[in-house]
Amino acid sequence: MIIKSCELSSFRNVESEIIKFSPTVNVIYGENAQGKTNILEAIYIFARGKSFRAFKDKEIIQFGKNIAYSKIEYEKKRQKSTLGVEISKSATKRFYKNGVKSERTADIIGEFRAVLFCPSHLGIVSDSASVRRNFLDVAISQLKPIYIKMMSRYNSVLANRNAILKMSDEEREQYRSMIDIYSSELASLNADIADVRSEYVKKLDYWVKIIFEQMTNGKEVPKITYDTCADKDDFESRERLKNKYQTLLSENYEREVRYGATLFGIHKDDLKIEINGKDARFYASQGQQRSLALAMKMAEGEISRESSGEYPVFLFDDVLSELDINRRRYVLSNINNRQVIITSCEPLVFENAEADYIFIKDGRVSEHQIDTAEDTAASEDKDEITEE
Ligand SMILES: Nc1ncnc2c1ncn2[C@@H]1O[C@H](COP(=O)(O)OP(=O)(O)OP(=O)(O)O)[C@@H](O)[C@H]1O
Ligand SMILES: [Mg+2]
Repeated sequence: MIIKSCELSSFRNVESEIIKFSPTVNVIYGENAQGKTNILEAIYIFARGKSFRAFKDKEIIQFGKNIAYSKIEYEKKRQKSTLGVEISKSATKRFYKNGVKSERTADIIGEFRAVLFCPSHLGIVSDSASVRRNFLDVAISQLKPIYIKMMSRYNSVLANRNAILKMSDEEREQYRSMIDIYSSELASLNADIADVRSEYVKKLDYWVKIIFEQMTNGKEVPKITYDTCADKDDFESRERLKNKYQTLLSENYEREVRYGATLFGIHKDDLKIEINGKDARFYASQGQQRSLALAMKMAEGEISRESSGEYPVFLFDDVLSELDINRRRYVLSNINNRQVIITSCEPLVFENAEADYIFIKDGRVSEHQIDTAEDTAASEDKDEITEE
């Protein structure tokens, strides 16, 4: 997957620009608050179907304007396509594939695949379980569009069931039959979602082991397992898995009424992350936790490649400066055969990879080449990324 260009219009502080990307390494550089992350946001919106940082879509619209626009031209299996998004103050956002309007956002997810890595992801090991669930959901959605529908149905049934659990005893009695219907649907959705997540986590564990070993020379062994309320044996068949969730929901009904919430299901899932058999949340150093985060992101790319036959686009938002030299070196030596777009305050110089440079100031961009040979010497004291 190669993104050829991105056209932005009234997109945050970018008034109107067309940015062309090389198929290898692209460095978007400039001072703080110039629009570097805005460009990644304008690209990643097509992978996720929404912004990775805006709380509301309309935050993206340039101050004083009514419509924001982003359009990417990309190549998938050597076939050129375009995706566009229009975000207006009055209507919701609209996606277009090859100029044709998509009825639903979910229809375009999976079309353009990208892995985003930004500083907040470095805390994935120690952050709350919801961050790790979100990692799974974002990664799986791009591979399996039906997953988005399952999740959205799950969330809506869960909200309905919780609303009844919160009612007064009298009111709730009238909805008793609805609770049974919702429980049965949730059990079924739990089984479907847990099955997909569990398969994904097996692949994640496989790749994280390989990547982590390369990064640390095999001294430490990571292990990632899927932590859900069903047991390992329950995964033997879908029927058994569904029955397990059904039993959890019915046996704990009284308790759930007391809490006013559904206490069992995939909305409580987590990833158990270990290093040498010890829980990484409590025992891994900050450096090890960062290595795990980086390995998980690189693994996300490998799993995407396995499923589609080509690498997704890697978007690294200001993250290399947060990594120590060994981890940077690992990233560097592993980005040669894929397209990477990196943002940085410095025009990072790569010795062994060809890079194109995009300078951004006040939302205006200019693309150019940097003579790597000359610059390598000149940038020795800078925040430089080179391979020895
Ligand atoms: N809706 C908007 N309209 C106009 N400008 C906006 C809007 N939303 C954000 N901005 C501006 O965009 C700029 C931030 O852009 P961005 O986050 O891309 O910066 P950056 O270059 O990544 O900076 P840093 O290096 O600090 O991460 C800020 O100046 C902010 O005021
Ligand atoms: Mg930024």
